[in-house]
Amino acid sequence: MDRVGVGVIGCGFISAAYLTAARSFPILDVRAVADREPAAARARGTEFGVPARSVEDLLADPAIEIIVNLTVPAAHVEVGLRAVAAGKHVHSEKPLGVEVAQARKLVEAAEAAGVRLGCAPDTFLGGGHQTARMLLDAGAIGRPLAGTAFWMGPGHERWHPNPGFYYQRGGGPMLDMGPYYVTDLVNLLGPVRRVAGVTARARDTRQVMSGPLAGSTVPVEVATHVAGTCEFVSGAVVTVVMSFDVARHRHRPIELYGTDGALAVPDPNRFGGRIELAAAADDWHEVPTEHGFTDGDHRGIGVADLAYALRSGRPHRASGALALHVLEVLEAFGRSSESGTHVDIVSRVERPAVMDPDRLEV
Ligand SMILES: NC(=O)c1ccc[n+]([C@@H]2O[C@H](COP(=O)([O-])OP(=O)(O)OC[C@H]3O[C@@H](n4cnc5c(N)ncnc54)[C@H](O)[C@@H]3O)[C@@H](O)[C@H]2O)c1
Repeated sequence: MDRVGVGVIGCGFISAAYLTAARSFPILDVRAVADREPAAARARGTEFGVPARSVEDLLADPAIEIIVNLTVPAAHVEVGLRAVAAGKHVHSEKPLGVEVAQARKLVEAAEAAGVRLGCAPDTFLGGGHQTARMLLDAGAIGRPLAGTAFWMGPGHERWHPNPGFYYQRGGGPMLDMGPYYVTDLVNLLGPVRRVAGVTARARDTRQVMSGPLAGSTVPVEVATHVAGTCEFVSGAVVTVVMSFDVARHRHRPIELYGTDGALAVPDPNRFGGRIELAAAADDWHEVPTEHGFTDGDHRGIGVADLAYALRSGRPHRASGALALHVLEVLEAFGRSSESGTHVDIVSRVERPAVMDPDRLEV
């Protein structure tokens, strides 16, 4: 199969994970990297032996078919639209955009141009989550009725060298971590019908704690604690909390409760992890992961899936349509908190097909 030429725009923190993982997907041929800061592109290019180019040059190169957009959330739609206008397929980091209305324009532009749009997270294609999906589909807990999804921490300023964007418009725990959880839930349970939410903000500034900016403060423009409930089209009701204001907790990332049992799904920010099942009133037991891509960081598996899909014409799994639905859900928590009412979700998506880890091409 023809390798697919890839250009990376955005050479910050997460680009190292993508450039490392891309080497393990033979379909992907990373041909150039770019950043609005040329020094950032040069540094990553040298580290990974890939030419560093300007964004314009990279977009004009006919040998590049897919743009992997690893810029900050507020730039995702703008950079995505430029790539689409240049006739490129795009796979974006999450979220698809910082507002549904804006992200929808990117989805529509890609459709009009006849190019594919993909979006992170692709962790739901990892073995932990694909095994959980197969267990649910096989009826391991009966009909899913309810669940919980929790990501809570003290804030990324503890470790990220440049954490300002997490606290500006487009940041916040729901837009940052919510995509992993809600994407996994939609992969497991199908689309969401409506959302009720309440949001809060603990502090007006946060202090950077690592790297050269340590000791400086960044302003907080967004809610930093978001709690609420998603009602799925299937009828399942899942409680969701995403927070940058919680020092410690003991909840598991995702638990699902069904008519015949309960399932503990591993951390959706990782590809593998411990899966536990409790049938009816029995105690929990671990279920082995019967799927590849469980250990390590396979970020970019969604790009590989997109590349194979391009060559064969099949749908790709981490799609723009899925990401737009997820973004509509994420945004609905804040909208519900402001309005004091439930927010109906208008978009609908099919669950992506289960992945065959031994045959990524199908
Ligand atoms: N840091 C993580 O652990 C992590 C994990 C998963 C996903 N992500 C997502 O990846 C994305 C990038 O995160 P990061 O931590 O690498 O951020 P970062 O700030 O370290 O890097 C972003 C890079 O994008 C460049 N950039 C910004 N706007 C641009 C534009 N318009 N054109 C060209 N380049 C531009 C910046 O110069 C910077 O080098 C975010 O969407 C984030 O949500 C981050």
